[in-house]
Amino acid sequence: MSTHESVAPAASTQRTQQHRRYLMCRPEHFTVSYSINPWMEPARPTDTARALQQWQTLYDTYLALGHDVELIDPIDGLPDMVYTANGGFVIDGVAYGPKFRFAERVPEGPAFMEWFAANGFDVVEPAEVNEGEGDFLLVGQTILAGTGFRSTGDSHREVGEVFGREVVSLTLTDPRFYHLDTAIAVLDPVEGPSTGSATGGVERANIAYLPSAFDEASQAILRERYPDAIQVSDADGAVFGLNSASDGRNVIISPRAVGFEAQLRERGYTPVMLDLSELLLGGGGIKCCTLELRGVIR
Ligand code: ARG
Repeated sequence: MSTHESVAPAASTQRTQQHRRYLMCRPEHFTVSYSINPWMEPARPTDTARALQQWQTLYDTYLALGHDVELIDPIDGLPDMVYTANGGFVIDGVAYGPKFRFAERVPEGPAFMEWFAANGFDVVEPAEVNEGEGDFLLVGQTILAGTGFRSTGDSHREVGEVFGREVVSLTLTDPRFYHLDTAIAVLDPVEGPSTGSATGGVERANIAYLPSAFDEASQAILRERYPDAIQVSDADGAVFGLNSASDGRNVIISPRAVGFEAQLRERGYTPVMLDLSELLLGGGGIKCCTLELRGVIR
């Protein structure tokens, strides 16, 4: 028996990029005309052209990285539609539809479900209030599900029934981090032995999270399940550093999250800095503008 450490040092870890297919929505009608989260101040002017420009950079970045991006038509009067992460939760070609908490966003639900149906997805109409991938994150075979502000605990049961997967409920406690995707970033959703590794190296599903956004019980669950997770600082959390998109290698993050950037580099990820400050006026960032369209996962 060798006592030799078989796990390679983190810095030399080779990260493997996975292909992604995303759904986005051009912020043509973006503005802040109501407030349903602490970031939104209707009295403060917004610049739609600037939002469009920043959004375009994100779109172009995904394409440059080789990902596919589908678009849903923006609807006048639905300024939050740019945050497509809330438009559903999609695994294996099945789209579990959203049921928004606030009246202002309710009409987005049918619009997203129509898009899914028209694009070959099996749509499951939700009975329970849930805000899609804003509160549901797939990590390995497990669905991490957030509650406290938007999606209800009943939706956690429902999403588990729809997808037949384990659901771990986590409770958010800080109103600035009202969706799970503002407090957890899924860095690598793949679980189990990595393919093509002669040494049998294991690529573990991994996340980054902001501990202070959760209640004690949820923090304990996260510590136990993800001992290797990156825990980000409150400063990086406060600039929406975790609201990021990873393809297993490239992690698109806010340029303000400098500590998180360094943590990612230490682990062998490639941070890509992208400023969506105009869209943050609506309380959303990179991940909020991105919905993953997952096909069949084996
Ligand atoms: N203004 C939107 C809302 O409050 C922002 C949604 C952000 N989306 C997200 N996935 N965190 O609902």
